[in-house]
Amino acid sequence: MPPSDLNRVLEYHERTRHAIEAMARGPGRLDWASQPDPFRSYEDSSRVSLRKIGFAGRSETPAELDQDSISRLFFESLALSAKKSFAGTSWSLRVNPSSGNLHPTESYLITGPVAGLEGSPGLYHYSSREHSLEFRGRISSKSWEALGLPEGAILIALSSIYWRESWKYGERAFRYCHLDVGHALASVAYAASCLGWQCLLQENAGTADLVDLLGLGTIQNPEEVERPDCLLAVFPAGLSSWPCLSSSQILSLSPAGFRGRPNVLSGSHVNWSVITDASEAVFTPPDSAPCRRPSSGSSLSTHDFCRVLRQRRSAQAMDGKTTIPLAGLWRILRATLPDKVPFSLMPWDPMVHLVLFLHRVEDLDPGLYLLVRSDEDTGRLAQAMSAQKFLWQKPAAGPGDLDLYLLARGDARLAARRSSCNQDLASDGCFAVAMLSRFVWPLESIGPWFYPRLRWECGMIGQALYLGAEAAGLRGCGIGCFFDQMVPDMLGLEGSEFRDLYHFAVGRALDDPRLTTLSGYDLGKGDQERAAQG
Ligand SMILES: Cc1cc2nc3c(=O)[nH]c(=O)nc-3n(C[C@H](O)[C@H](O)[C@H](O)COP(=O)(O)O)c2cc1C
Repeated sequence: MPPSDLNRVLEYHERTRHAIEAMARGPGRLDWASQPDPFRSYEDSSRVSLRKIGFAGRSETPAELDQDSISRLFFESLALSAKKSFAGTSWSLRVNPSSGNLHPTESYLITGPVAGLEGSPGLYHYSSREHSLEFRGRISSKSWEALGLPEGAILIALSSIYWRESWKYGERAFRYCHLDVGHALASVAYAASCLGWQCLLQENAGTADLVDLLGLGTIQNPEEVERPDCLLAVFPAGLSSWPCLSSSQILSLSPAGFRGRPNVLSGSHVNWSVITDASEAVFTPPDSAPCRRPSSGSSLSTHDFCRVLRQRRSAQAMDGKTTIPLAGLWRILRATLPDKVPFSLMPWDPMVHLVLFLHRVEDLDPGLYLLVRSDEDTGRLAQAMSAQKFLWQKPAAGPGDLDLYLLARGDARLAARRSSCNQDLASDGCFAVAMLSRFVWPLESIGPWFYPRLRWECGMIGQALYLGAEAAGLRGCGIGCFFDQMVPDMLGLEGSEFRDLYHFAVGRALDDPRLTTLSGYDLGKGDQERAAQG
């Protein structure tokens, strides 16, 4: 009998764990000749250039949907934001981060008629290289209207090209792709919120529906397969109703024909078949999730973020001495709470909690702490960790809205660094984080297709930490390389009830003086003036 999808997912997870004795299987060395193009383009499709304009602050009322607001949404979420150069080579960086800067995530806009785009509803691929929309196909007006979406709503689909990531990271790449999807989702949600818009995942979209909608079925180079991940409704905030599309409504949007051919990314490939297998085991069935009212997504703590979306950068090293004031720490942690943007886009209960290695926080004992993001899990975690005699004390200085526990006082730098593949980032910042997710229960009770969603939630938390750090004048860095079992072992966690899925560090970055930083695009005079106007 073939293994069940659940077993295939669990098997993928087990075999791609990093341990001190054995790292997950990778290519060994990088084959620069086959390095994939980080940019997808659809050759021979017509292109709409977007204006390179961002926003100066948060919009108090929902922005009108037009070409400018669409330009701003992408410019502040998925566009290029900088170029680095060193010794004659240069590379682009984007508003959203990506493991290894490989950017496996692609994005698509599905919209009704908007002045400046096609006159009818249409499907577009977003090209970050030019900040433009590539027209892929016309959508029937009747089907678009039948969705009953609120005025000013659009849909954004995300997809992943695994080869971009597996070229460097081999079998573990599938994990990183989904962390990247989480970062991209959050990136879009923050930019949308700055425009006075709100987002909600449309979980009734099955993988097969999205393959048809995005035209990813027939024209694929099998070695560069691009799989759809999710569909996000973006709509004006504060409405009394919210979009909840069915699988058949989504399918009815599929264009009758597709324009453009996807570019070839590499001349040669390595087939990482375990990724193909895992990606098939997590296919989302259609109409699989009941619709849920979105939480209002209080953006109080995220107002500051509108200024810093395009300045986000990963720290490559940290200074090992800067401290963070208590209020600064609380502000960053609050941004990770489930009632905030971007988590209001998730139609599921939070599954991920934060193990905090607090190294340099003013007026707080260094040590190991736990931030429980869903109070229903407090008892479950305490029970699962009962083999270790932790303190479980609420810090006297802790604010009431954070379910924060001191587990053990002491120097947690070594534990943070060692568990993060010995990366100094984890010990040289103000604090480091390990994201502990419920694991077997959601996969068994909801379905194996939930596996990527656990990582999306982690990626979104990562994006909240990146922006929280920027707003506090510090810098963050995602840490996808960690030894999977070290933090659970330290906490006395056995079995698969909880798993460690992502690490992160926040502190004062040390810049590399060898690198030159340039702007993301060569802006023309008009663009520069508009960018300066905000
Ligand atoms: C999911 C994920 C995992 C990452 N893992 C690491 C890591 O283990 N070590 C590291 O130094 N940087 C890591 N990074 C940072 C990336 O290398 C960085 O995002 C990328 O180089 C692009 O740079 P930028 O974030 O400044 O745009 C990670 C980023 C993401 C999103």
